[in-house]
Amino acid sequence: MLNFEFHSPTEFVFGKDTELQVGKLLKSYKAKKVLIHYGSGSIKRSGLFDRVVKAMTELNIEYLELGGVVPNPRDTLVYEGIKICKEEKVDFILAVGGGSVIDSAKAIAAGAKYTGDFWDFFDRKASIKSALKIGVILTIPAAGSEGSPVSVITKTEGLLKRGGYSQEIRPTFAIINPELTYTLPKYQTAAGIVDMMSHIFERYLTKTTDVILTDRLSEATLVSIIEAAKIVMKEPTNYEARATICWAGTIAHNGILGVGRQEDWGTHALEHELSALFDVTHGAGLAVMFPAYMKYTVNEDVQRYRRLAVKVFGIKDKPKKPLKVAMAGIHELEKFFKEILMPTTLDEINVHKEDIDRLIEKLHINRGDKFGFFKELSMEDARKIYELACK
Ligand code: NZQ
Ligand code: ZN
Repeated sequence: MLNFEFHSPTEFVFGKDTELQVGKLLKSYKAKKVLIHYGSGSIKRSGLFDRVVKAMTELNIEYLELGGVVPNPRDTLVYEGIKICKEEKVDFILAVGGGSVIDSAKAIAAGAKYTGDFWDFFDRKASIKSALKIGVILTIPAAGSEGSPVSVITKTEGLLKRGGYSQEIRPTFAIINPELTYTLPKYQTAAGIVDMMSHIFERYLTKTTDVILTDRLSEATLVSIIEAAKIVMKEPTNYEARATICWAGTIAHNGILGVGRQEDWGTHALEHELSALFDVTHGAGLAVMFPAYMKYTVNEDVQRYRRLAVKVFGIKDKPKKPLKVAMAGIHELEKFFKEILMPTTLDEINVHKEDIDRLIEKLHINRGDKFGFFKELSMEDARKIYELACK
């Protein structure tokens, strides 16, 4: 196990009706003027927006609103948010939504305390030294942004999708009421499930040895997600299954499942180009890329894949045939993605072999010659993985 520091300062408030505590939480973090940030309207249609505003006005908390965040959030709205925060002296941002809204809120929070262009943080020209405080009311379990120090934004000019990182942008609190996820379309529910599983795979696929506790926590989380996923796809209002998925999404990405080991993140790099160029739903893109990545890298550490197959996918162990066991696990994962109605080939998301040149060109701009740690991938490796994902 490697040395590590683990810092997860977010206050998580979990369960039924917890969004009603938002006024009290904002007060406890001394919020005076709040920007409520949200997406394309699901929170207005569900009545959540009205409940949030009521809870805030009852405690005399002043607010402004900025909606319109789109999935794969854009820099243009971030600039608008920064302008509002600076002009109106906003001191707290409340993100009500999913990863896209939270990431947009994080970028605004950092940009509002910076005199230069916020994109500097995503271009690695500057690091985030301070940010406005952020609170979250989560409506889709997926990205894990409610507990992560990361914001992922797409620059409209050139379609560059990049991450910015700082402990300063971790939310101060995150309210998670599983009931708020009942209204999710099946596709979004499933894409979220794939994303959280992928966050675990990115950490599980490591060359670091002797991290058995983290391995077992990861395997238990994956098994719990798969079990609950099969229920929520059939019963969208099953509270216990929704609750399992919600909490799993948070712990999959707040860092606890990555401690003591080198993480990979190669497959996210491959997927982000799909989202950037073709506006693919992040989780759906991962459902396509992960099986292809796994098939391509299985011989990198066949015993690691064998363990995953046995512990998570219930494949019968055959110690003398590790490759067979490992491949059976990967096929089982693919089968599960299909069962929850996710695409598993590029063709299904309308990306084709002739698009690979453009994907590689963008990948090279964003990642340089090599990326990933489980297996260091060259652009030629990346091309082969995209090709594997075509069929
Ligand atoms: O915009 P509205 O109308 O709210 O609709 C959203 C959106 O269309 C809808 N939705 C959300 N909650 C709903 C709902 N519809 C009905 N009922 C509800 N309760 O779902 C759609 C997707 O929302 P989005 O926020 O885009 O989903 P997600 O949480 O999957 O976020 C994806 C983004 O997060 C980034 C991804 O790259 C992508 O841009 N990621 C962020 C990470 C981080 N910050 O740590 C890590 C991840 O790996 C990921 O890259
Ligand atoms: Zn992700």
